[in-house]
Amino acid sequence: TYVVADACVKCKYTDCVDVCPVDCFHEGPNFLVIDPEECIDCTLCVAECPVEAIFAEDDVPDDQRAYIALNAELAKVWKVIVEKKDPLADADQWAGVKDKRQYLER
Ligand code: SF4
Ligand code: F3S
Repeated sequence: TYVVADACVKCKYTDCVDVCPVDCFHEGPNFLVIDPEECIDCTLCVAECPVEAIFAEDDVPDDQRAYIALNAELAKVWKVIVEKKDPLADADQWAGVKDKRQYLER
């Protein structure tokens, strides 16, 4: 499966959503997750994300491994998003910031 990781937090550009053939993105207040039970590993979303937030599960950086469980957990409670929308208003200010997990809203 593919995993949305740290760079998405507080940005949520949503370009990834439009290309997913199986609608496996779910939306929270300031982050998206991929449902690992739906993702078919097509890889299309990876190149769409302007902040390179999406990784194959095996390639998630060591300091971001917690996002694997977070995607699985939050995909069960957040609603599916199927169309691109505007990013968060201050997304560009947060795009280069690291270690944003503390800001993830549920
Ligand atoms: Fe959807 Fe493909 Fe990305 Fe999985 S890898 S989330 S199926 S676009
Ligand atoms: Fe997030 Fe990148 Fe998609 S910022 S919403 S994973 S395009």
